[in-house]
Amino acid sequence: MAEKASTVRQRKVDVPVTTKSNGKIVDPSLIRKEDHVSALDVFRSLAFVVLASCALSYFVTRESLFWNLSRPKWTNPDVVKAWLAGPKQYTDADLAKYDGTDESLPILLAINGTIYDVSAGRRHYGPDGSYHFFAGADASRAFVTSCFDVDRNPDLRGVEKMYIPLDNPEVDSLYAEGDLKMLKYLEKKAAKQKVHDALKHWVDFFAKSPKYPAIGQVKREKGWETKGPVPTLCEKAESQRPTARARPAGK
Ligand SMILES: *[C@@H]1O[C@H](CO)[C@@H](O)[C@H](O)[C@H]1NC(C)=O
Repeated sequence: MAEKASTVRQRKVDVPVTTKSNGKIVDPSLIRKEDHVSALDVFRSLAFVVLASCALSYFVTRESLFWNLSRPKWTNPDVVKAWLAGPKQYTDADLAKYDGTDESLPILLAINGTIYDVSAGRRHYGPDGSYHFFAGADASRAFVTSCFDVDRNPDLRGVEKMYIPLDNPEVDSLYAEGDLKMLKYLEKKAAKQKVHDALKHWVDFFAKSPKYPAIGQVKREKGWETKGPVPTLCEKAESQRPTARARPAGK
């Protein structure tokens, strides 16, 4: 039976044979030919689109054929290796020697306490790279304030000030005391959310980047984030604070 079917199929290819399908007479060789042509067309168009996208992506990103997007993190062997090796722990002081100046060591950076191996981005994070100031430290504060000279540390206390409007006695006097207090409370709350969002942007960037394996956590003493004096807001961020507090409605 199986042999019979295959002979029939073979014959269909060689010699057009009419068959009944849904009560209609059809020539299968004709149908197959049309099918073939359109499937091939679709394939050709798809292949062209994919190739064009790859070429454009490589041209634009200079490194990725897939817009730096479609490569899941786990497809990077270094990510798998780091995962298999288990989490490493370094103190903030330990991190300093992994800033790329010693070429025999990997380049590490931390963001919000998570350490990434950014050796694959030596051209950005190495001594000549434009992001070198992030290497060898947890510079979370600088990721938010952009003060790379003084804020290469993870202390986020007081950073929210950069989003809080400067006090303006003329405007402030228009508020009832309680209202002003409430307004300031809300301003601070919104500002803290902005700090969180700004940091999260970078936290997510490194977490998702297929190039950079997470290798562990920065080891810190408990309660470190509330110890010591609150750092002052860097000059650049201070100078960019919003100047005008909104006037109360109708005043
Ligand atoms: C940073 O880490 C702290 C503590 O681990 C966490 O509560 C916070 O949500 C993290 N921030 C971001 C932006 O991921």
